[in-house]
Amino acid sequence: MAPKISLTRYLVEEQRIGGCIPAQLRLLLEVVARACKSISLAVNKGDLGDVMGTADSENVQGEIQKKLDIIANEVLIEANEWGGHLAGMASEEMEGIYVVPNRYPQGEYLLMFDPLDGSSNIDVNVSIGTIFSVLRMPEDDRGVDEGDFLQPGNQQVAAGYCVYGPQTTLVLTVGDGVAMFTLDREQGSFVLTRKHVKIPEDTKEFAINMSNMRHWDAPIKRYVDECLAGKDGPRGKDFNMRWIASMVADVHRILTRGGVFLYPWDKREPEKPGKLRLMYEANPMGWIVEQAGGAATNCRQRILDIQPGKLHERVSVVLGSKNEVDRITRYHTESQ
Ligand code: AHG
Ligand code: MN
Ligand code: MN
Repeated sequence: MAPKISLTRYLVEEQRIGGCIPAQLRLLLEVVARACKSISLAVNKGDLGDVMGTADSENVQGEIQKKLDIIANEVLIEANEWGGHLAGMASEEMEGIYVVPNRYPQGEYLLMFDPLDGSSNIDVNVSIGTIFSVLRMPEDDRGVDEGDFLQPGNQQVAAGYCVYGPQTTLVLTVGDGVAMFTLDREQGSFVLTRKHVKIPEDTKEFAINMSNMRHWDAPIKRYVDECLAGKDGPRGKDFNMRWIASMVADVHRILTRGGVFLYPWDKREPEKPGKLRLMYEANPMGWIVEQAGGAATNCRQRILDIQPGKLHERVSVVLGSKNEVDRITRYHTESQ
């Protein structure tokens, strides 16, 4: 039987053989994985720990924070601030950036995260996760500020997510394809369970919150109508639908068996470009999906090429099986 490959060994080999990651980035990814392990333990406690329910506070997006949103945020900050690999961090749960305090050495990377994705699923025991994105500090920069974080997704040097579901699975890219690691709870370590993950180009499964249908733009309505028409419609095949309301879990399904995920702009809040956040949701997920052979757009252009204007910027998201994403993007350009 082939020996199990731990996350540590995978990263050492990516550094030594693949030449894909410098030592400091390897340390950073190890620390993020360790933090995800602690978040997984907190999630697993459920009603046996003081982790469920709301926290009597709001984040910068005006959303009520859950206790686990705050716990996960603190775990990630505490794990990452002292190792010397980071200059700063930014999170869905913090209005401004978090500069690594002076008492610790400053590193050359910037870390962004959605500490707990799928918060509405915490209390109902459905899969949730952590999403993260790593950028390099711009060169010759003295002192980190918000502007340093405002780089397009094509500048990411690592991206990943950890899904806390029936299994805890860490999914990672450093630009060398996508690898999946399952948490071995007896050993306390992540073990490589899939590499070179590929999303099929075609699919019969779509994911969208259908309750927003009346607010959609015409091209989205056209796409979903055609899926619903099934064999009798222009697509000539039946489609299936899934919506977990945790982006991590929906994306994980797509990486596993294909599919397309849509969270488009809609008329509920027309001034906002979408619901999901560009920097710590759409960019890392977009890169992971592209690295697995899929595509990710904001209905019109590649997500990774969007120049962000602010930290908590929102964006429309269509990602997954390439031919479906291309079709939805084409429906938008055709309707212009
Ligand atoms: P978060 O819990 O980090 O705020 O993100 C929730 C997001 C995303 O995970 C999911 O796809 C979407 O919100 C679900 O939105 P609806 O409740 O509008 O379906
Ligand atoms: Mn989220
Ligand atoms: Mn979140």
